Amino acid sequence: MSLINENFLELQDSYLFSTIAKKVVKFSENNPDKKIIKLGIGDVTKPIVPACLEAMHKAVDEIGTSNGFKGYGPEQGYEFLRKAIVENDYKQRGVQIEADEVFISDGAKCDCGNIVDIFEKDNRVAITDPVYPVYLDTNVMSGRSGKFNQEKGTYENIVYLPVTAENNFKPELPKEKVDMIYLCFPNNPTGTVLTKEDLKKWVDYAKENNSIILYDAAYEAFITEENIPHSIYEVEGAKEVAIEFKSYSKTAGFTGVRCAYVVVPKKLKGYTKNGEEVSLNKLWNRRTCTKFNGVSYIVQRAAEATYLEEGKEQIKQNINYYLENAKIIKQGLEEVGFITYGGVNSPYVWLKVPEGMTSWDFFDKLLEEANVVGTPGSGFGPHGEGYFRLTAFGTKENTIEAIERIKQCKK
Ligand code: MLT
Repeated sequence: MSLINENFLELQDSYLFSTIAKKVVKFSENNPDKKIIKLGIGDVTKPIVPACLEAMHKAVDEIGTSNGFKGYGPEQGYEFLRKAIVENDYKQRGVQIEADEVFISDGAKCDCGNIVDIFEKDNRVAITDPVYPVYLDTNVMSGRSGKFNQEKGTYENIVYLPVTAENNFKPELPKEKVDMIYLCFPNNPTGTVLTKEDLKKWVDYAKENNSIILYDAAYEAFITEENIPHSIYEVEGAKEVAIEFKSYSKTAGFTGVRCAYVVVPKKLKGYTKNGEEVSLNKLWNRRTCTKFNGVSYIVQRAAEATYLEEGKEQIKQNINYYLENAKIIKQGLEEVGFITYGGVNSPYVWLKVPEGMTSWDFFDKLLEEANVVGTPGSGFGPHGEGYFRLTAFGTKENTIEAIERIKQCKK
């Protein structure tokens, strides 16, 4: 008899975006004449930029030759990409990261999920609430969450750090000692940011408590304001306490191409139960070599091209396009009285749903009356209740139309 991992039975419903997709399919089947506009899951719409395409074409041709053929690559990623990351994403921001601290992967979702492998089951985990569901669900799967409390909508062993309008979307330090802290800024789902000073408090907390910060910076390219860190390593001392996740999905449009990376600094230490220090970089390297055979050469060449001058310029144009959509969403909604947050340093606009409605009520209303799909705030956690997320990743035309339709149904 094969026993299952019963932790999976503690998971709630299905994965948020699958639940939404199912609802939308059902609505479409019942209303085949309706044109649905999807501003739900944060998937991009702009095609891959020419610099990356060219690099991919070149790599395709190369692997068709006997000299250029590539078999298994290094599990951690090709040196050319790791070096380009060190130079462009870190050195140019005044941060010293070494190439062997960078691990190339096929997505930040996988990295955020897989990282739990190297941590003990009894670690106390803190997540912001609302939160990108992957951090929570992967800790549930690996047995760190304890039981779910239906009434509260929370797991008994998880420390929830509310991020709401009441605290200006800045999580407060936990009152109790926690070992693993998930932070994502610019934040998914709220689209809000932390300043360097805000982030320093977390780095200091982690140092004092020997905790690890798991910092998801997947949306850093959308930062437009000064004094907002693009990397947690811009904060002094962060290399001793933080793992950072970065992605090419939202910047270079690689949601389908798949490429990301995680930085595990060599200074970063975890502990055995006997209190011995262990290098997390070594553990992650060991895990990577065992469970992963690397991202394809073609894709890594495409990722490298994001750092070419023309690549940077083309990507910047795409990001500006999405930021313009965010402005259209924000302004349009505010014109008819919605209260909105985010959307300035982020592709996500977070809004308050009308008084008396739940997030899912509002989801249903928008789907049925405006034929627009968004993401209900409560799907990201109990403190997301009463909020709703719209993404700026649609086309400009669809974004304008969606907002006009929402305005009509608000009247
Ligand atoms: C989201 O909509 O929150 C993201 O697209 C999900 C993801 O990046 O996996």
